[in-house]
Amino acid sequence: NPPNPQMEGNPMLEQINCRAKGGSPGFKVAILGAAGGIGQPLAMLMKMNPLVSVLHLYDVVNAPGVTADISHMDTGAVVRGFLGAPQLEAALTGMELVIIPAGVPRKPGMTRDDLFKINAGIVKTLCEGVAKCCPNAIVNLISNPVNSTVPIAAEVFKKAGTYDPKKLLGVTMLDVVRANTFVAEVLGLDPRDVDVPVVGGHAGVTILPLLSQVKPPCSFTPEETEYLTKRIQDGGTEVVQAKAGAGSATLSMAYAAVKFADACLRGLRGDAGVVECAFVASQVTELPFFATKVRLGRTGAEEVYQLGPLNEYERAGLEEAKQELAVSIEKGVSFIKK
Ligand code: NAI
Repeated sequence: NPPNPQMEGNPMLEQINCRAKGGSPGFKVAILGAAGGIGQPLAMLMKMNPLVSVLHLYDVVNAPGVTADISHMDTGAVVRGFLGAPQLEAALTGMELVIIPAGVPRKPGMTRDDLFKINAGIVKTLCEGVAKCCPNAIVNLISNPVNSTVPIAAEVFKKAGTYDPKKLLGVTMLDVVRANTFVAEVLGLDPRDVDVPVVGGHAGVTILPLLSQVKPPCSFTPEETEYLTKRIQDGGTEVVQAKAGAGSATLSMAYAAVKFADACLRGLRGDAGVVECAFVASQVTELPFFATKVRLGRTGAEEVYQLGPLNEYERAGLEEAKQELAVSIEKGVSFIKK
């Protein structure tokens, strides 16, 4: 195990011979961008997850502070902090799941695509580290625009010869979380009892909730369908505007990221029937990447499910989503290939 930067240079601790701790069962997880708005609550929630034995927190700023803080929580996971590019390899070595929320978030008036210039380069660098130090890890990519950053990551892994499409997952869970919440509100149900598939991608019209496939079975008026679809698509913008310059969704995103990471870890453990939506390499449409329900297993997204029957409203939405997605995917691919 690499030394814990937190422990180094603590003279009191150096005089004490701590008993060796029995390794807790669980998985080794790294968060890249752990000191950010999403990263901090995500780190806290992952420290509370009993499936995590080791938690590495990497950022280019403030990683030691966040690590010191989180490491005092009396849960099983051992926490280590890593600061800046020289410590990226140590942060990644041996990891089984890498969660990436590094990068800049939107400000009012910005689209997710406006973030491309900065975040594309960040994702490229971090994925080069993954390819070198933990090529078998499952990657949960949160950094926006997800519709382009996932193709970027795929190209980086291809170049390095480590690409396994099952292991690269763009996180669209927040769209599902929002959809469950808003649909439950309209139906007068507990959101925990509602399951809304959200397919396509993670930006504007590429976010396509399949309201005809909601569980429990139900029906919506055209007005309800229009309201719910738009609210789910614009959920991120609703938060960006309410925060008025102070960032985008962080707390609900951290919740969604942990819900998704936990599903990945249950899959890695070998649990049966773990199914969530994610943006993955796909043959469901003619596009190389698409978000649908996937079954998570020991090797990642082991099965990518078909869309199922769509109604006319959803078929029209699908065509619109595919047009925009094609452009975003191509933008990511050519960023690496050019
Ligand atoms: P933030 O600005 O609060 O935090 C980003 C963190 O990344 C900062 O701590 C920063 O130091 C760090 N960082 C920057 N460059 C880095 C590098 N090269 N290596 C490691 N860390 C680096 O932003 P926030 O709100 O946490 O959002 C992060 C990303 O997540 C944004 O791109 C945002 O658009 C995206 N996001 C994605 C969602 C999704 O559903 N997939 C939902 C909400 C946000």
